[in-house]
Amino acid sequence: MFTGEYAKFSITQLSQGGKLLGIMEKTLKFKPEKILDIGCGDGKHTIYLAKRFPEAKVIGIDISDELIKKALERKRIWNLDNIEFFVYDYFEFKDTNFDIIFSNNTFHWFGDKAPYGYEKLSYHLIIGGYFFIHQGEARSYINLRHLMEKMLKERGIEPPRYPLFYPTRKELENLLKDLGYGHFVIKEEIEDYIENEKVYVDFTYAGGLPYIEILPENERENFRKEFIKRCIEEKCSPSPVRLYIYGRNDRNLKFFHIKDLKTFINDIKAILEETDKEFIPPLSSRFSTTQNVFSSAPGSIELYLTSLEKQEMILCCNEKGKVIGFLSFIRNYEMLNKRWVYVSTIAVRRKARGIGIGKKLYLKLFEVTRGPFLTRTWNGNEEHIRILKKLGFREIYRIPNHRGKSVDTIYYGKD
Ligand SMILES: C[S@@+](CC[C@H](N)C(=O)[O-])C[C@H]1O[C@@H](n2cnc3c(N)ncnc32)[C@H](O)[C@@H]1O
Repeated sequence: MFTGEYAKFSITQLSQGGKLLGIMEKTLKFKPEKILDIGCGDGKHTIYLAKRFPEAKVIGIDISDELIKKALERKRIWNLDNIEFFVYDYFEFKDTNFDIIFSNNTFHWFGDKAPYGYEKLSYHLIIGGYFFIHQGEARSYINLRHLMEKMLKERGIEPPRYPLFYPTRKELENLLKDLGYGHFVIKEEIEDYIENEKVYVDFTYAGGLPYIEILPENERENFRKEFIKRCIEEKCSPSPVRLYIYGRNDRNLKFFHIKDLKTFINDIKAILEETDKEFIPPLSSRFSTTQNVFSSAPGSIELYLTSLEKQEMILCCNEKGKVIGFLSFIRNYEMLNKRWVYVSTIAVRRKARGIGIGKKLYLKLFEVTRGPFLTRTWNGNEEHIRILKKLGFREIYRIPNHRGKSVDTIYYGKD
């Protein structure tokens, strides 16, 4: 359906894509390493992404070989080596582990398959990976669609059912919720800043194609011209109502309790190595999870792991069974004349933070054990303290300067 012609008239797409990139700039919390542009067309936005993130590998896919040729020309002009373009139907695409999926003005073209298109995002994204999607809303270009239908009827042609997936904001929100996405925003925007005449022209090369393409080829150009003329005469309001959908992949997370971590040891070690230096003092300088004097004998990740091996854990895994985060705990831990379920370590992969995994690890712990619960942290570990307070923990004991100057150890407890 889309040809090289489309690229010449895609002013509307460019400004909408720009807006989507703006949302990305404001939202993104980590440096992406792998980015996918679905339905990349002639690659304008894909090129932007590759220049914006020179250390990332960027892939653009599009079902139109003509547009991918144009995208490859752009790549040559910009001389970029971190970008690849492929002719691909998104529904056949298999690559995984993307940090960002970007898609401008493409999802509505999936028609009845669009819900599966949204479902499939989680397969391609890492947990915590971002999606930025812009597509049309139910009222999008409604007057332009009606005018084209009228013009077809005037020619004795029954207009086809409009095949694009144009949901209301609420419908799309319900779809994403039903699919199990929990972290997303859908912004509805009426884009009346774009000149109407430009929208009329663009519509004949994009949203209007399902109508135009049922006409014989030699009638299409005249139909286009008449449509634009009538739009201008009738001062047709284009009503470009758009949806900007952005969020993070928190789909299909599994939380479960294990007593033996052998099967998961490599994943857990990888998490310890990734997060090591964020702890005060680093885990690699400790010899056990419950160590009380931090400046004594030197430790290592291996020693820390050995001490974890004797403990139970709550794991958070993705749908492929990879561990994204864990919480280790010891039952009947004695302190302050009481026996506690003691949380010795909680760690979540960096890119998967900010989607509620830490809190859910605790909630699963509350499900599988009976308190009281105890944990310790240090002042400055704000994210952990915020979760603890939200879950009803309160400070019960503090050791000032325990981990260095002004770095206190704080014990938090909950009955
Ligand atoms: C309106 S264009 C948008 C192009 C580009 N993202 C932009 O903003 O200029 C929609 C694009 O989706 C592509 N497309 C439609 N269905 C597709 C599918 N199943 N897989 C991959 N690309 C598809 C079309 O070929 C077309 O290039």
